[in-house]
Amino acid sequence: MSYKEQIDKQNMPNHIAIIMDGNGRWAKEHNKPRVYGHKKGVLSVRDVVEGAGEIGLKHLTLYAFSTENWKRPKLEVTALMQLLVNTISKEADTLNKNNVKLTTIGDINSLPSNCRNELIKAISKTEKNTGLNLILALSYSSKWEIIEAVKNISKDVLEDKMNIEDIDENIIDDYLNTKGIPDPEFLIRTSGEHRISNFLLWQIAYAELLFSSKLWPDYRKEDLFEAIVNYQKRERRFGLTSEQINK
Ligand code: FPP
Repeated sequence: MSYKEQIDKQNMPNHIAIIMDGNGRWAKEHNKPRVYGHKKGVLSVRDVVEGAGEIGLKHLTLYAFSTENWKRPKLEVTALMQLLVNTISKEADTLNKNNVKLTTIGDINSLPSNCRNELIKAISKTEKNTGLNLILALSYSSKWEIIEAVKNISKDVLEDKMNIEDIDENIIDDYLNTKGIPDPEFLIRTSGEHRISNFLLWQIAYAELLFSSKLWPDYRKEDLFEAIVNYQKRERRFGLTSEQINK
């Protein structure tokens, strides 16, 4: 039986987040420039998004560009931004036809204007779609997001829109970029690195983690299906005992 057939539709995670890592190493292994690895990485994005749609996943967040990635060589940053513009403009219609809703998290204002404009177009084109919610993390870091939330909460307290005593988990959720999106139950990172790299630190409090040794350009929908089968074999206890969960 294929991994796709083994997936239990009654026990699907609502939200999967992926740290797409290993494009540079993939390129090096193939004696190509790093940007070539990113281009191949786009094919993996396409395939994985298609797979996510096929199994009816509700939310998929992809870590496409971190706040820290701005410090990479200028040439690589420019190429990544151009790749993003080209991919979004090329794929927006296909996303729309497949009922995918595109959204972003991160400091979108820091992106070059052509990139921001292309994204805004694709976001508004797909905003009414009810299938997969594809969330691109762009110029995103969790610490940046939390700092923004603290600033905005403080502002609202100072302006008497909220009392300090009102601040609870739900309020914090509402001030994060991911407002309205359920926390990911499952986080996947490719390339064999065992790190979180400033990604969704608040939101992954109880997420199951899976580290795949595959480099991102080699990652395909079958790998996602296999990962979900692995996830479904796990017991999620949320701090309780196994007996409490199974009674
Ligand atoms: C990590 O590999 C990957 C990135 C920083 C960029 C990911 C971008 C894409 C897959 C292409 C564009 C995405 C979309 C959504 C259209 P790395 O460069 O850190 O690899 P390394 O660790 O081997 O150097």
